[in-house]
Amino acid sequence: MRFDGKVGLVTGAASGIGRATAIGFAQRGGSVIVADYSGTRARSVAEEIAAAGGKAEAVKADVTVEADFRAAVDLACSKFGRLDFLHNNAYSYPKGIAGSAIGDTADETWQHHLNVGITAVMRGTRAALAVMLKQKSGTIVNTASISGVLADYRNAPYNAVKAAVINFTRVVALEYAGDGIRCNCVCPGVTETPPIQVMLGRPDARKAAQESIPMRRLGRPEEIANVVLFLASELSSFVTGAAIVADGGQTLHTRNFF
Ligand SMILES: NC(=O)c1ccc[n+]([C@@H]2O[C@H](COP(=O)([O-])OP(=O)(O)OC[C@H]3O[C@@H](n4cnc5c(N)ncnc54)[C@H](O)[C@@H]3O)[C@@H](O)[C@H]2O)c1
Repeated sequence: MRFDGKVGLVTGAASGIGRATAIGFAQRGGSVIVADYSGTRARSVAEEIAAAGGKAEAVKADVTVEADFRAAVDLACSKFGRLDFLHNNAYSYPKGIAGSAIGDTADETWQHHLNVGITAVMRGTRAALAVMLKQKSGTIVNTASISGVLADYRNAPYNAVKAAVINFTRVVALEYAGDGIRCNCVCPGVTETPPIQVMLGRPDARKAAQESIPMRRLGRPEEIANVVLFLASELSSFVTGAAIVADGGQTLHTRNFF
């Protein structure tokens, strides 16, 4: 799997799954825009890629600000001349707000999730399509979640938004299949990234998570990035509109033990 001559833009690339995707894309010859709303952390990932001999450019971009997203796409074109791959991946929960049942969910919490989780994906896709349609080629990969396939407790906005990402992916795939543009998503299970490490810091939480996964371990960011990169690459040239689950088997079972 090589990306020589290809240009990618990864959002939320300063950490976790996005960071692993940006590094993996560059390691395989691609040039990558490392976009994150933390400019400092984005720069340090770009420097890490450059130190290893790869091509990367950092940009401070909040995906919920349309002008920022457009500027990131423009940077790919001005710096590297094209855009072959967009990874819509950035996400954050509202700061300091714990999960809640639907009856206790505030409008502002709901709106935060819609903004970062699906509106940003639509706007980023629209900006990338403008370039990819001219090229007559491109691949878009969205980070959905197993939480878009099944339901959690006290996580309704995230469940709704990630389900929306899966069906939005299908619509993009359908509408642009004739234009040389593919769109797919990955549905990660529990993966060792900083926000999950914080959540699993609670007593017994890690043990419970591992026990719910048939492989008895969490995913590594690189294992999710590998799926994203496969979907970005020519190896998946006949795949579009797919939602690939990477969860160590977590969604395989009913949890009935009779
Ligand atoms: N880690 C998991 O277990 C898991 C499971 C399923 C899905 N996911 C999804 O994977 C994606 C990446 O999550 P992660 O676990 O790597 O998290 P992470 O916190 O390690 O990385 C997310 C990055 O997004 C950036 N970000 C947040 N809001 C942003 C915004 N508005 N604009 C630009 N950048 C922003 C953050 O600064 C951070 O660097 C998310 O879409 C998440 O929903 C993660």
